Amino acid sequence: MIDTQLSVDVLQDDTRLPKVPEPGAMVIFGASGDLTARKLVPALYDLVARRRLPMEFVVVGVSRTQMSHDEFRKKLRKALDGQRPGGVSDDVWDSFCGNVFYLSGDTNKAETYEELKGFLKKLDGERGTQGNRAFYLASSPTLFPSIVEKLGEAGMNRGENGGWARLVLEKPFGRDLASARELNIDIRRYFEETQIYRIDHYLGKETVQNIMALRFSNSIFEPIWSQHYVDHVQITVAEELGVGARAGFYEEAGALRDIVQNHLMQVLCLTAMEPPVAFDAGDVREEKVKVLKAARRIPEDEVENFAVRGQYTRGWVWGEEVPGYREEKNIAPDSTTDTFVALKLFIDNWRWAGVPFYVRTGKRLPKRVTEIAIQFKPTPHAPFAGAGNLEPNVLVVRVQPEEGVSLKIGAKVPGSGFEIRSVNMDLLYGTAFLEEVPDAYQRLLLDLMLGDPTLFIRADETEGAWDVLDPVIRFWAESKEVSFYPAGSWGPEEAEELLMRDGRKWRRP
Ligand code: BG6
Repeated sequence: MIDTQLSVDVLQDDTRLPKVPEPGAMVIFGASGDLTARKLVPALYDLVARRRLPMEFVVVGVSRTQMSHDEFRKKLRKALDGQRPGGVSDDVWDSFCGNVFYLSGDTNKAETYEELKGFLKKLDGERGTQGNRAFYLASSPTLFPSIVEKLGEAGMNRGENGGWARLVLEKPFGRDLASARELNIDIRRYFEETQIYRIDHYLGKETVQNIMALRFSNSIFEPIWSQHYVDHVQITVAEELGVGARAGFYEEAGALRDIVQNHLMQVLCLTAMEPPVAFDAGDVREEKVKVLKAARRIPEDEVENFAVRGQYTRGWVWGEEVPGYREEKNIAPDSTTDTFVALKLFIDNWRWAGVPFYVRTGKRLPKRVTEIAIQFKPTPHAPFAGAGNLEPNVLVVRVQPEEGVSLKIGAKVPGSGFEIRSVNMDLLYGTAFLEEVPDAYQRLLLDLMLGDPTLFIRADETEGAWDVLDPVIRFWAESKEVSFYPAGSWGPEEAEELLMRDGRKWRRP
């Protein structure tokens, strides 16, 4: 006889089966902004198309701009059409946009929250959202503390009638360790850590999650994944694009705050962490925090030996001449903002002692590529003539584009002699799996509604990452030095020297 209760439990625990979130409302603050139209709404539309959201799911956009519900819906549809010409299904759109609403209001005023609260209660009655709310802060980060405070004062830090309330914060989360701590304190006056979802879209990328799959579902890597066999690690997040229309934001942030503190440090943590006991929010995040704890703090008077700040000048990308950073619209002509960062980091623990982690990111580099390259130590002895010139083994996890894994190995060139040459063994996800790779925001928004914070950043993670970078931030705030590189190159000379001093060189991905 089948125990039905057991079967249901087993089914619900089966990670291969899609879970459907409970009913609820997603409230987006800063709804008239770029992120909502470019990322959030397309991801929600796709989730609706894939039937991953319940019927009782609503979106309420909040921002200062005066708009009716319909005007908001039309604006979103136009943006979606712009992204996917001819690719938006009217049926899917209609079933999605009937659940999209808009409320214009000043987020500094208490009455906006009273109105929102009333509106959400009304939706609970009419749409069955059951008092569950996710508040997504897609507004300027300077507004975060005040929005959180007002939500709390209005009693919206708890769901209605036993429902839940969750808070999502976009990056950047603070400007340095002190401000991140302050922000965490401000937020936790009203929301508990379990309600807070700090988003880093890199964690929603399939291939970033695959770093864990590769490491912890294959027994062959574990024994070699340490200082015994690894010579060094290189992590690259390269972009072709320049600063674009984001001058205001970027002048304040620079590449260190925009990419290194979050995306790059997260990728580094996943690469270096110990195997978690389980793939859940507690264990995974605990292991990442341990990596950040073990990361060596760069002494402030030695920053120049460990960090390079670069900025692009006029140059050529894919055959097109592009302006230098200081020539871009709304950028100060004497700006020292970093559009490129290279760092040498060490993880001072048993596994990684003495292994340098070289990380770099930059705008206006020759191509868009994100990868992790684990370079192994050379063989102890070369029995074949000429084998001394062989390249070492390198395992490359390609996050984007052309997602996959490749391993560089030495192989015999066919023929009568015994010539050895380096060749790549490649796995391309695009050909290995038929499934479509969902966009990062799809995964993260779904996890948010499901109440699974595993792929979101915990307070001590964000603080830990700032703590590692704080000496560099302080040093660069004082020094006016910046190393220039022509757009379309792989960064300044100083970045090359950072590795050359150690007898190594950057890969050309
Ligand atoms: C964002 C940064 O977080 O990530 C942008 O603010 C950057 O400056 C972007 O362009 C890169 O994301 P992706 O997914 O294109 O690698």
